[in-house]
Amino acid sequence: MAARALLVVFLPLLLLVVASSADDGAYGLQPISRRSFPKGFIFGTASSSYQYEGGAMEGGRGSSIWDNFTHQHPEKITDRSNGDVAVDSYHLYKKMCAS
Ligand SMILES: *[C@@H]1O[C@H](CO)[C@@H](O)[C@H](O)[C@H]1NC(C)=O
Repeated sequence: MAARALLVVFLPLLLLVVASSADDGAYGLQPISRRSFPKGFIFGTASSSYQYEGGAMEGGRGSSIWDNFTHQHPEKITDRSNGDVAVDSYHLYKKMCAS
């Protein structure tokens, strides 16, 4: 689950790096650089709390549709995992932010 969460976070970044390093001879792509974007363009990233938080039954969170779905139909998830723990940022956020 942690590996999947890291993949979700870093794959878009990796794709951007790969795309920006491709020369126009390899795939017919133009190189991408900071100047490829309009002045004032703000880059952002996103992830879902389900992929990060864990602590599924703590802090008054309550169950989500995904909690219910993954518990009731684990066979629908390739590795039968769920977000009960995820990358456990619910417990590890101080450690994650300190590094
Ligand atoms: C998840 O299932 C529980 C138990 O049946 C229910 O109380 C809760 O409302 C459900 N949550 C959602 C978001 O459907």
